[in-house]
Amino acid sequence: MFDIKQYLQEQRQLVEEALRQYMLAAEGDFAAHIETMRYSLFVGGKRIRPILCLTAARCVSDEPDVDMLLLPAACALECIHTYSLIHDDLPAMDNDDLRRGQLTCHKKFGEAEAILAGDGLLTYAFELISSEQFLGLSLEVRLRLIAVLARAAGSLGMVGGQFLDIASEGKEIPFALLKTIHRSKTGALITAAVQMGAIGGGAVAAQLQALTEYGGAVGLAFQIVDDLLDVTSSSKQLGKTAGHDAGQGKATYPAFFGVEKTRALAIEAAERAVAALVGFDERANPLRALARYIVSRTN
Ligand code: IPE
Ligand code: IPE
Ligand code: MG
Ligand code: MG
Ligand code: MG
Repeated sequence: MFDIKQYLQEQRQLVEEALRQYMLAAEGDFAAHIETMRYSLFVGGKRIRPILCLTAARCVSDEPDVDMLLLPAACALECIHTYSLIHDDLPAMDNDDLRRGQLTCHKKFGEAEAILAGDGLLTYAFELISSEQFLGLSLEVRLRLIAVLARAAGSLGMVGGQFLDIASEGKEIPFALLKTIHRSKTGALITAAVQMGAIGGGAVAAQLQALTEYGGAVGLAFQIVDDLLDVTSSSKQLGKTAGHDAGQGKATYPAFFGVEKTRALAIEAAERAVAALVGFDERANPLRALARYIVSRTN
């Protein structure tokens, strides 16, 4: 039986070390600004996106060190994700005080400083992924990774999804729009994580297609469960404010379907993800386990 808990712990450590290696040091003229980025980055996020990227690479590549080649890309994903959280928490957006078990970036350092921390992390992600630290991958592969990441993070992905999320507050929206919001605000970056691993690992077209399907389903499941935990869990457990969505009039799965049906829909999405991997051998077991972990997670 594959031990997903232990796997996640090991992978998290790998990502943590790489982030510490690649992230800017808080020194020199910009030390105070860099400190605001490091504050939000180094406080125990689950690191799911980098882990999905590395795991997808290992699922298609025979190269034993393929994950090492992809660590800068994995770290770029985490930088973009962390920026999205900092901006998501701002008063103009979700207006949250708690993130990753500590004060949100703007509560700690001020609003302008938090906006700039997000800007810095977003930009640094592209510096990281286009830098010479990628010497092990061909220029063509590096360019494809950058394109996938840019598309997913931008207006047709995460940013666009966040716009629709805000625009839908306090409104009754059709289910199709709710699904679009979840697939874009959260699903896009998660799908990109899997695609980047696949591309870096040398996936052929059919493998990339299957993994894209997997990523889309896992990404949707991830946000459905995020909505669910907002209703069923505590702030202490989550490290962020529980029960926040209803107060903000957010369009969520539990608001649409109630808790039980939402749970069933999350499981259904995760099983769709697993089904997309039907053509893969046992090397895809960690991805299968990750999909199921995502619906059973408690934070
Ligand atoms: C929270 O993401 C925001 C969403 C996109 C749902 P995570 O649940 O991955 O947050 P961290 O990185 O573990 O803090
Ligand atoms: C966030 O969705 C999606 C992002 C792109 C950050 P939420 O607003 O539900 O995330 P949490 O619950 O604040 O982490
Ligand atoms: Mg939000
Ligand atoms: Mg939020
Ligand atoms: Mg949420």
